[in-house]
Amino acid sequence: MDLKDKIYSELSKHRNEYISGQTLAKFFGVSRNSVWKAVNELKKDGCNITSVTNKGYLLLSGNGIISKTKIEEILGNDVTVKIFDVIDSTNSEAKRMLSCGFSGKAIIVADEQISGRGRLGRTFYSPKSTGVYFSIIITPDSSLSGAALVTTAASVAAMRAIEKTTGKRVMIKWVNDLYLGEKKICGILTEAVTDLENGKLSGLVVGVGINISTDDFPEDIKERAASLGVIDADRSLIAAETAKEFFDITNDLSNREFLNEYRERSYVLGKDIYYIKNGEKHDGKAVGIDDGGGLIVEKENGENTILRGGEITVRVKQKSI
Ligand code: BTN
Repeated sequence: MDLKDKIYSELSKHRNEYISGQTLAKFFGVSRNSVWKAVNELKKDGCNITSVTNKGYLLLSGNGIISKTKIEEILGNDVTVKIFDVIDSTNSEAKRMLSCGFSGKAIIVADEQISGRGRLGRTFYSPKSTGVYFSIIITPDSSLSGAALVTTAASVAAMRAIEKTTGKRVMIKWVNDLYLGEKKICGILTEAVTDLENGKLSGLVVGVGINISTDDFPEDIKERAASLGVIDADRSLIAAETAKEFFDITNDLSNREFLNEYRERSYVLGKDIYYIKNGEKHDGKAVGIDDGGGLIVEKENGENTILRGGEITVRVKQKSI
């Protein structure tokens, strides 16, 4: 950790008390001027720190900085870590990296996205500092056969990381949205990049957007979207833990244990739903998740059909009051 991260960590341990520059300088064995410089950098990064003469520094509420060092510490040396204050889209950056020949594992994290992308050509609202927006790259040797499960794995990974770091118990709405109560707090977009010369898979990009403390959403999504409602979350930890869980699961996709977790935390199983297939709306009941991550739906005529993503949407029927 560099001095900036160490000071941030110390201030966040003492959220309700001022710590003097002298105490911090002594604690970390540096000059008061170095502390002052590091605090100023933290403020520039968007940290809400107040400084009072003769009292010292106090970290006020906020989601803190995204620390490259911290993410690197959690993920180890074989994962490339890139951090951006603002970017068009971390998925777009990941795709640019793959197109330029990147190979291996990486995570790209942003404090804000100005062209965040969602599934089915939608946008993903990604305002500054109130969420965490990141993309994970893996470059599997094999074909695309496991791609559907990669998305399923990402939902389980994000769900585990959110619970571990914030204590919030979220549910998974097939195929890969995370819900807190009745509202969506996280979306996942998986994209593949292929080498046009040889048609082979260059890599997979799994983009995750988690609303952490966003409380003001655009009109068109405000009925469905929400945040975790946590104001002092450690976004570096959430992103790194999601990536760690994701790498663990996808290292051996033949082990389908994680699908049980996916089923246990399903927001839709057992519920009446309607789904749109080939432009037509159908009624059904979500009755299971198969071993490929597909949603097993009991149709109105009693037969089962399996939904596998693509142009299919699933909506839980609204109860009429
Ligand atoms: C969806 O809900 O439709 C998927 C949303 C995925 C959003 C994430 S945020 C990080 C990454 N970069 C993007 O542009 N999109 C994904």
